[in-house]
Amino acid sequence: MKALVLSGGSGTRLRPLSYSLPKQLLPIANRPILEYALDAIQRLGVTEIGIVIGTPDSEIPASIGDGSRWDTPITYIHQDRPGGLAHAVRTAQPFLGSDDFVMYLGDNVMPSGLEQIATEFGRWRPSAQLAAHKVPDPGNFGVVELDEKRRVVRLVEKPSDPRSDLALIGVYFFTPAIHEAIASIRPSARGELEITDAVQWLLEQGRTVRVVEYDGYWKDAGQPDDLLECNRRLLSDLSSDIAGTVDAASRIGPQVVIEAGARIERSRVEGPAIIGTGTVIEDSHIGPYTAIGRDCVLRRSRVADSILLDRVSVVQVSALYGSLIGRRASIVGGTGAEAGHRLLVGDDAAIEVAA
Ligand code: TTP
Repeated sequence: MKALVLSGGSGTRLRPLSYSLPKQLLPIANRPILEYALDAIQRLGVTEIGIVIGTPDSEIPASIGDGSRWDTPITYIHQDRPGGLAHAVRTAQPFLGSDDFVMYLGDNVMPSGLEQIATEFGRWRPSAQLAAHKVPDPGNFGVVELDEKRRVVRLVEKPSDPRSDLALIGVYFFTPAIHEAIASIRPSARGELEITDAVQWLLEQGRTVRVVEYDGYWKDAGQPDDLLECNRRLLSDLSSDIAGTVDAASRIGPQVVIEAGARIERSRVEGPAIIGTGTVIEDSHIGPYTAIGRDCVLRRSRVADSILLDRVSVVQVSALYGSLIGRRASIVGGTGAEAGHRLLVGDDAAIEVAA
């Protein structure tokens, strides 16, 4: 069996961060989201992994490499436009050939693994094996409708009047029958080739489509609040590891990772928190639930429940909470004379300031 990880797409809901970095490389607990996907896929023992990327110069190949970190060769497949999940599979057909495959959405995080779903697929080998999770807001997802015997009867993409609270989650197992289905469907009203339409086509042809209810932790990290929630969740599993330097005037709580080359002076770090290599923290209070990337500088500041990417600087900021800060951003507290905020803000930024 092969794996196909979808890491193209537009990422509009994560702008402006996704303008300069594919959202699948945004870090959670200081690791790119995509690495968690590859960890889960590796445990299934697939023979090859294909990663769909959205631009030929995507940073993904340089960041992820040739697959040797996962002992599985990785092939990168360029999708010429974000034409939908089924369009991505169609683009990858030469790579997939006539193999069964697991398709995984590269912005989904499922740390408890995919083994349960893979076992169901292996046991019955249906044309499509879906996974679903109960959600309070099914209208925002592809929804699976089941009959009284829990057989799949219908899939509906973002229904306005959902008849089920089972949302499709980002992992699908397919036999090559899916290629015939994709060749038979047309783009949806939003102009995309939808994987739900392809699976619906299989159902209408009388092919077997199964669904397994997945009850482990799952997050579609497509929006800023999802990333922050996922960050809190993955940081809460952290074990302490202090490889960097901490001076005698600093206090480090439990569940704190300070990577080698980081330096903490006259500061308090409350876990769970992770501080990346090369980062300097002085006279600050960091955490809980905070992930700070590499080579950042934080001085005289308070930062909690946030994700800072690499080379961010935060100086004299009394309270930074629930924030996602992109690479090389600089946030500096007012220096006294002028009251109010002074901002240099890129397109689509979202800023919330104290009134
Ligand atoms: P989505 O999050 O559904 O779509 P998107 O990336 O376009 O984001 P937004 O809605 O915020 O604009 O995509 C799910 C995953 O599939 C994600 O990892 C991107 C990937 N994908 C592709 O690889 N190709 C595609 O054509 C699409 C639509 C998504």
